[in-house]
Amino acid sequence: MLVFTSAVGCSTDQPALKDVFAKDFLIGGALNDDVVNGKDPKAAAIAEKHFSTITAENVMKWMHIHPEPNKYDFAATDRFVDFGQKNNMFIVGHTLVWHWQTPKWVFVDDANNPLTREALLARMKDHIFTVVSHYKGRVNGWDVVNEALDDNGQLRKTKWMEIIGEDFIAKAFKFAHEADPSAELYYNDFSLENPAKRDGCVRLVKDLQSKGVHIDGVGLQGQAWRLEPDAPSRENLEDFINAVSALGVKVMVTEMCIDVLPKAIYQPGADLKQRAELREELNPYLDGLPDRMQKKLADRYAELFSLYRKHADKISRVTLWGVYDKTSWLNNWPVRGRTNYPLLFDRNYQPKPAFYAVVKTAQSGK
Ligand code: XIL
Repeated sequence: MLVFTSAVGCSTDQPALKDVFAKDFLIGGALNDDVVNGKDPKAAAIAEKHFSTITAENVMKWMHIHPEPNKYDFAATDRFVDFGQKNNMFIVGHTLVWHWQTPKWVFVDDANNPLTREALLARMKDHIFTVVSHYKGRVNGWDVVNEALDDNGQLRKTKWMEIIGEDFIAKAFKFAHEADPSAELYYNDFSLENPAKRDGCVRLVKDLQSKGVHIDGVGLQGQAWRLEPDAPSRENLEDFINAVSALGVKVMVTEMCIDVLPKAIYQPGADLKQRAELREELNPYLDGLPDRMQKKLADRYAELFSLYRKHADKISRVTLWGVYDKTSWLNNWPVRGRTNYPLLFDRNYQPKPAFYAVVKTAQSGK
């Protein structure tokens, strides 16, 4: 195929993903600061052309936006929100309450003693009110609580749980809703397609609903998905989509990226604490992804997007975790320093076979 490349690196013959899926769902990606601060203009051009929605990859996490007790830093987050508004994108704030990328001081007092429940709730309220109010009417949806469930579907034992108790989730949603009643509010997690975790998620949403807590949707991260057909299985995915949709809330795929490298850890999921050492055999495609692997990746993407389209009445958004392969976090997780190929655009900002396979799914029936 003849491909013309424009000065900004977008081929002129590429259909825009946001047009291709306009009738189905919003489509987009997570942006890091370089995409919006001018350091990576070719990535910005991809986002501008293809994305109808963006999520902050890191800048809105507690450690960046609220690094010290009395210091909020909105410089990078303002750039991110301005970029989204300028391009008429649906803007997702990620994330208000999480156990990772949250400074240690959050959970202790000045004397380094653990906070009381009331003190931690007050701190959480201040954080949510300050951040959500700052973007009132501008950020369209918030990942209010991230990754609160364990693989077995029980609540994860985090500092939030330990100090506040299980109602920390309801409280976070209440604060966020009070701060901006028009923003959509989501629960977001990985491995939710696995039955035990799916059931835990359904229990969690039902519990919030029974208490009158406002929740608009659940984000199925799609992190750490792999090429193997059973990761995740079609059946598990459909069961999850149907179960969550039956609760009357939106289903979103929020952090999709497909790991093509050898498995380095045995636990399922995308827990940041999982780490493995770099070994040569874990990094086999240093010089490029072989055609047979490109084909496998394209087939996997096509399979998943066909399924999303089939359930487009329940799925409101599909967000990829990044813009192009070079800056994907899967180059550094769970093993630092690998060369991974998880996204639709390659290291030279060009669309991969997976991109065209995804586009093709929109041309066929549901
Ligand atoms: C990742 C970012 O992509 C990395 O840059 C950062 O170093 C660690 O966090 N689940 C989430 C995301 O909800 O916030 C994580 O993002 C990936 C796993």
